[in-house]
Amino acid sequence: MALLPILCYPDPKLHTVAKPIAAVDARIQQLAADMLETMYDAKGIGLAATQINVHERLIVIDVSEERDQPMVLINPELVWTSPTTHLNEEGCLSVPGIYDGVTRFDAVRVKALDEKGQSREIEADGLLAVCIQHEMDHLMGKVFVEYLSPLKRNRIKTKMIKAQREESR
Ligand code: NI
Repeated sequence: MALLPILCYPDPKLHTVAKPIAAVDARIQQLAADMLETMYDAKGIGLAATQINVHERLIVIDVSEERDQPMVLINPELVWTSPTTHLNEEGCLSVPGIYDGVTRFDAVRVKALDEKGQSREIEADGLLAVCIQHEMDHLMGKVFVEYLSPLKRNRIKTKMIKAQREESR
């Protein structure tokens, strides 16, 4: 097990589009385990491979209170989205300290492989649905702040660059 460094916005590598995973092998299983460990350590509810600079279609999620329901989604595809949406306050491990509203589908159905390579379909609503949509965006190279106005986004960019400069001193 290993903790992996998380890329921080506005790192351009966060805009890389991830490639499908051809085989769920030991390397992918290790990657998923390391990503879960990294997510729990950072107190996040989701992490996409993109955020640890691995550009393959893999996300891990745990939205449970007890932090004991890890989910691994490999090559996730949305097969259905609800006709209704809602505005939800979101944050991201790659944009620490920033929270803002993003409109998401109320419910989604997603098809993916699990960590054993088994195909499964998950119907999600509430926080899980939001988290799946947020993490799948990462795989497309999209960070949630890109839904905000250019003014807000630039303000966040400046704040992040300043924070990273202070941290590296
Ligand atoms: Ni995120």
